[in-house]
Amino acid sequence: MPTKATTRTAKVKPGQREEETLSVLISHQRIRERVRQMAQDIRRDFPSEPVHLVGVLKGSVLFLADLARELGGEVSFDFISVSSYGKGMDSTGEVKMNKDLDVSIEGRSVLVVEDILDTGLTLKYLLRLFEERKPKHLRVAVLLDKAERRIADVKADYTGFVIPNEFVVGYGLDYDERYRNLPDVCVVRLGPRGKTKIEA
Ligand code: IMP
Ligand code: MG
Repeated sequence: MPTKATTRTAKVKPGQREEETLSVLISHQRIRERVRQMAQDIRRDFPSEPVHLVGVLKGSVLFLADLARELGGEVSFDFISVSSYGKGMDSTGEVKMNKDLDVSIEGRSVLVVEDILDTGLTLKYLLRLFEERKPKHLRVAVLLDKAERRIADVKADYTGFVIPNEFVVGYGLDYDERYRNLPDVCVVRLGPRGKTKIEA
């Protein structure tokens, strides 16, 4: 439930200004509590094993940092960078690898950490790639799930929040590289009436 709304004006094209309205969808407090519960669920499944977190850059960074601290026990990190989105709110439909992992995942208990599951195309690509590398376990944790947008047949093992089909920013998620530093997850709408650009 949105608890407050902020209006910001941002330059979107040279010479043109378009208003962006942000409303809090999930407060930092709720995120913190949910991340703690997710960490408990993950540790219940892997009680005494080292867990190797694979963060999908850049959106997962804040979620991974909080999840790692809540997990306790032996935890290591690595990061991969893929792009599935254009610069704005619309998907290009393609997945491109920008940066591969630094270390092998063979024989490790791997937890892929993603900010948001949307069409699922990115995760499908990543799971296929990682399965070939023979990890001991391969699980997925996502903070947000836009379930109604799914195209690819993929599921996360641990999901923070199922959210409606709205473009969201904050807590790592961006709109044109902005807003990643907001502590809350917010819906961003464009235009004076806050009309959203993505319609299913
Ligand atoms: P998918 O391949 O369609 O599942 O897209 C996954 C990626 O798209 C996420 O990791 C995000 O980087 C990006 N994405 C999808 N929806 C949103 C959104 O509402 N806000 C910001 N980024 C998003
Ligand atoms: Mg992402």
